[in-house]
Amino acid sequence: MSGALIGVIGGSGMDRLHDMKVLGRQVIPTPFGPPSAPVIHGSLGGGEGFFLARHGSGHTLAPHEVNYRANVWALQSLGIRRIIAINTVGAIRAGLAPGDLLLPDQIVDYTWGRAHTFHDGASGSVLHVDFSEPYSAGLRGMLRLAAGAAEVPLHDGGTYGATQGPRLESRSEIDRMERDGCDVVGMTGMPEAALSRELGLEYASCCVVVNMAAGRGDGSEGIHAEIDRFMDLGMSRVRAVLERLMRDL
Ligand code: HPA
Repeated sequence: MSGALIGVIGGSGMDRLHDMKVLGRQVIPTPFGPPSAPVIHGSLGGGEGFFLARHGSGHTLAPHEVNYRANVWALQSLGIRRIIAINTVGAIRAGLAPGDLLLPDQIVDYTWGRAHTFHDGASGSVLHVDFSEPYSAGLRGMLRLAAGAAEVPLHDGGTYGATQGPRLESRSEIDRMERDGCDVVGMTGMPEAALSRELGLEYASCCVVVNMAAGRGDGSEGIHAEIDRFMDLGMSRVRAVLERLMRDL
């Protein structure tokens, strides 16, 4: 049954999916150690899916501490073939504002030191996976349709810049990322996307803009106050899209 269902890897703000009904909860051991949290089989607005809290149940894991391999492995071990990642981001590109949703179609990876492949020395195999199109066009299309049906505005396309964190960026780093073509910046997009590709899963990200990136806002409100203010709006939009998607599956 789970083959038809979606796996959602939720980031900061996942606890705001508060009206999700929990149908089951599974602790899944993997060859790479434990995932961030138990996988929750839940129902949201009449549809069902599987949910995994990327930063742990109590939001205790920093982006570089997340066991991305275990998380992706755990979902595929349940038979899940499609993963939707929820990623909070800062806006770099003009025209994006806090509270907006964006479906990226490209990624630039600035992270380092994370376990980023299933095919390392221990596996005894090497794999050079094709990553020209890092996100699944089919799954992005499903998200687009669900957002349209739920009347949630969405920016379709953009480049996600994945930084190491946990600190936020300097203004010059954001300037460099803009020159590199990045539209939004977040800390958790990689290696999750590439690991999902290695396992042959369909993977798409629904980004929630929660602040203007360093040097891009007017600076009148501190970045943390801005994030707090827009997390609720952004996550309520994510919830509406997920509900619609899961109901239509
Ligand atoms: N930078 C990096 N990651 C983020 C940001 C940001 O400004 N906002 C939310 N996640």
